[in-house]
Amino acid sequence: MSREFRIRPAEPGDAAALVELAQAVGSEPEGWLITTSNWRSAGDERRYLKSIRRYPHAAVFVAEAPEGIVGRLSVGRDPHPASHHVADLGLMVAQSHRRRGIGQALLEAAVAWARAREVRKLELHVFPHNAGAIELYERFGFEREGFRKQHYRRPDGFVDAILMAYEVR
Ligand SMILES: CC(C)(COP(=O)(O)OP(=O)(O)OC[C@H]1O[C@@H](n2cnc3c(N)ncnc32)[C@H](O)[C@@H]1OP(=O)(O)O)[C@@H](O)C(=O)NCCC(=O)NCCS
Repeated sequence: MSREFRIRPAEPGDAAALVELAQAVGSEPEGWLITTSNWRSAGDERRYLKSIRRYPHAAVFVAEAPEGIVGRLSVGRDPHPASHHVADLGLMVAQSHRRRGIGQALLEAAVAWARAREVRKLELHVFPHNAGAIELYERFGFEREGFRKQHYRRPDGFVDAILMAYEVR
């Protein structure tokens, strides 16, 4: 299947589409995301995207299809000097565009970003019920590093999370 999307760094002009995507994925009843209803506004998103344009320690990548923005990956380096080689990531793909390789392509962009900055480890948290995401991450090469009990507060209470990490070579 030909790739009907391209991966590129997010631009401030993507802000409204990115907020819409996050709100749509965040409101899926399965509860995939840590941030649900209180996603930042389009104005704050635009300011954030502007602020990281020349900032070397964080990035947002988008997947753009003919229909518009259909995926987002954000990555940010740990500010502590002792763990400055570690970056945390977040990922989402529009429900309409899943299982087309977009998640994997966004992860590849994150690895290239990390490699260019001598980030040696990418980490993320995923909810234990998110079997599809766990499958993607494990197939990609992420390993389970820990189980965080009651680590996140969501509208319906505290929930556990699996900590996963990928060694950048
Ligand atoms: C998890 C998510 C990012 C995957 O994105 P995607 O673009 O559909 O993933 P890809 O198409 O690149 O999948 C690559 C491989 O990962 C595995 N995979 C991905 N989604 C899967 C699913 N739901 N069930 C089983 N395996 C899955 C498969 O092996 C897949 O290859 P295949 O389609 O050839 O079988 C997407 O489902 C999503 O955004 N979900 C809601 C938000 C979310 O859970 N974000 C992650 C929070 S930690």
